[in-house]
Amino acid sequence: MESRNLFRFLLLLLSALLVLLFTRTWIHLPYTPSDKAELLLCSHYSPWCTSKNRIQAKSEPNSPKSQNHQTQNPHHPLDPLTITEINQARTILSSYKPFSSSPFTIHSLVLSEPEKPTVLNWKKGTPLPPRKASIVARLNSQSHILTVDLSSNQVTHHEISTKSGYPTMTMEDMTTSTWAPLSNPDFNRTIQNRGVSLSDLACLPISLGWYGKKEEDRRLIKVQCYSMQGTANFYMRPIEGLTVLLDMDTKQVVEISDKGKEIPIPKAKGTDYRFSMAGKNTIPLNPISIEQPKGPSFTVENGHLVKWANWEFHLKPDPRAGVVISRATVRDSDTGEVRNVMYKGFTSELFVPYMDPTDAWYFKTYMDAGEYGFGLQAMPLDPLNDCPRNAHYMDGVFPAADGKPYVRENMVCVFERYAGDIGWRHAESPITGMEIREVRPKITLVVRMAASVANYDYIVDWEFQTDGLIRVKVGLSGILMVKGTPYENMNQVSQQEDMHGTLLSENVIGVIHDHYITFYLDMDVDGSDNSFVKVNLVKEETSTEESPRRSYLKAKRHVAKTEKDAQIKLKLYDPSEFHVINPSKRSRVGNPVGYKVVPGGTAASLLDAQDPPQVRGAFTNNQIWVTPYNRSEEWAGGLFVYQSKGEDTLAVWSERNRPIENKDIVVWYTLGFHHIPCQEDFPIMPTVSSSFDLKPVNFFDSNPILRVSPNLEKDLPICRASASA
Ligand SMILES: *[C@@H]1O[C@H](CO)[C@@H](O)[C@H](O)[C@H]1NC(C)=O
Ligand SMILES: *[C@@H]1O[C@H](CO)[C@@H](O)[C@H](O)[C@H]1NC(C)=O
Repeated sequence: MESRNLFRFLLLLLSALLVLLFTRTWIHLPYTPSDKAELLLCSHYSPWCTSKNRIQAKSEPNSPKSQNHQTQNPHHPLDPLTITEINQARTILSSYKPFSSSPFTIHSLVLSEPEKPTVLNWKKGTPLPPRKASIVARLNSQSHILTVDLSSNQVTHHEISTKSGYPTMTMEDMTTSTWAPLSNPDFNRTIQNRGVSLSDLACLPISLGWYGKKEEDRRLIKVQCYSMQGTANFYMRPIEGLTVLLDMDTKQVVEISDKGKEIPIPKAKGTDYRFSMAGKNTIPLNPISIEQPKGPSFTVENGHLVKWANWEFHLKPDPRAGVVISRATVRDSDTGEVRNVMYKGFTSELFVPYMDPTDAWYFKTYMDAGEYGFGLQAMPLDPLNDCPRNAHYMDGVFPAADGKPYVRENMVCVFERYAGDIGWRHAESPITGMEIREVRPKITLVVRMAASVANYDYIVDWEFQTDGLIRVKVGLSGILMVKGTPYENMNQVSQQEDMHGTLLSENVIGVIHDHYITFYLDMDVDGSDNSFVKVNLVKEETSTEESPRRSYLKAKRHVAKTEKDAQIKLKLYDPSEFHVINPSKRSRVGNPVGYKVVPGGTAASLLDAQDPPQVRGAFTNNQIWVTPYNRSEEWAGGLFVYQSKGEDTLAVWSERNRPIENKDIVVWYTLGFHHIPCQEDFPIMPTVSSSFDLKPVNFFDSNPILRVSPNLEKDLPICRASASA
């Protein structure tokens, strides 16, 4: 018996070895003897990356692999609901009164995350906490909020919203609203009177905000239309001044406002942006690509747990937020300790007010996450262009309005970036007699998604650096929302006229607008209880006896005690750093360990605080806010922002002025852009980006990337197609 077992074991070992050998041979195919001669001929070119023998091209054809979602199981307490779980939640809801007897629509069906301590205490390999679904559904003209326990098949929580505002639109709401006006004969007549053929019509569903009684007590939407004739870029051909007010539930036209009859529809010529339509490429560039001969340095464990260099975090697509980063930890290179940095970070809300108060424009004050679903609008990424070749892709699994799950493929990508930047450096000048030139390349890990909210495209990057810094970057591209005008040249426009924007082309005005993107950042620096410290740089004056200097700058620390202490408006001439510290943990030399929020180029809203859009977008009144952690305060504009009056925003919560010192706190940061369009934005906008950083401050005892190795010639292959003989 014993010897038979040994024999079996040896046989197993042998076959394992054979498999290993085979795999290695296969992976190293370029090095097989037949290639040797060629190898010698071009010995200084590593042959692995030539056009004929790219390993990547063999194992991974150009399009990313699609994942099998049918068989997917959750592995982590924060893993999004699987297809099976979404189906199960829908089934439970369908047999629960009153949902069992009346038709309903699902506006949101996502994982109800376990309580924070449960997640923090969970260990890999132990059973998952009970899986629950959080559902927002509309039934009998009411918004219901429910929790469904998937382990007991029970609805465990059910409330009907009493607040103003409606849930995020479903994709079906948007699609049917777009076509609904066509059932109205007056609408058809209006379009035809404008000289547009109904077959060339393209319409957009536009959220209408809240401006008083007229917008209350029913779900409404405004529809505006464009001519597709002669171009894919219909956005540049508005049927100006025509607005259809629609009841989103009944799909009945409530009102048609037609105030632009004298405004011509701008020409189609020069508006198409597609490569297939473009002329000859006039900007010659040779191909460029990042090569990782040994493969990427990161892994994505069980679909969602990303491990790279000293970082580890959980990543999931979300229909409303886009992507959610959770449990971000960094390993201390001195001690090997895995240290908490951020429990959860995501795009909480957007606010995009246009600066034109006239009939067809005043209401355009979008809140893209809560109204349209920032994740729902994230289209599949384009391999090689949206993300480099070395990217890994992640799909989103979301519910449709009927609760049935669908897969949004390649919604998120993860890749290592080497942009030729420097991590740190020093070179000695010959005057010291020392010959030192030490440089380290900067290699980072990027998580990316791109949401196309109708015309506009938002690119959101979470970039992790080995020195502990996290950069959150938002890029804006896509197509402007433009206004038709009779003017064809600025010489026709009087000085006094307020055009609300810039003449971009004949009959096309790019209307001035702002973009605000508010991030939720639940920082847990070495633990949940943290404090927020304003480190204010102030000018100190000196007396002449003291020093030949008249003034110097001094850092004054102020620990925020309550929420109002931490409502921050950025000021260039009264600068501060904004630290999130752990007051009970000190560095080797006694500084509190921390992370700071470092604002980048940004903009602040200048609208009147009482202007209805600004009341709803009041979460942009400050660039930084800090609130005590509260599970129900995640969406800066409120859970239900569609047509809301603004009574459930971050600004309202913060007015409670709760204590925030040495507590589990959440930092909110708003990135802003003012956009005065210019002609280069026509017919499609080159990307404009801005970012902010979360940067360690006395968190590590010394430079955490001191021992990173430099790039060495022998590790870096030179790729040349000609090397492939
Ligand atoms: C309006 O035009 C569309 C497209 O031609 C057509 O399908 C629809 O029936 C028309 N509506 C009415 C009320 O005639
Ligand atoms: C948590 O947030 C909800 C929603 O804003 C609020 O009703 C509740 O009072 C908050 N709880 C605490 C302890 O602040």
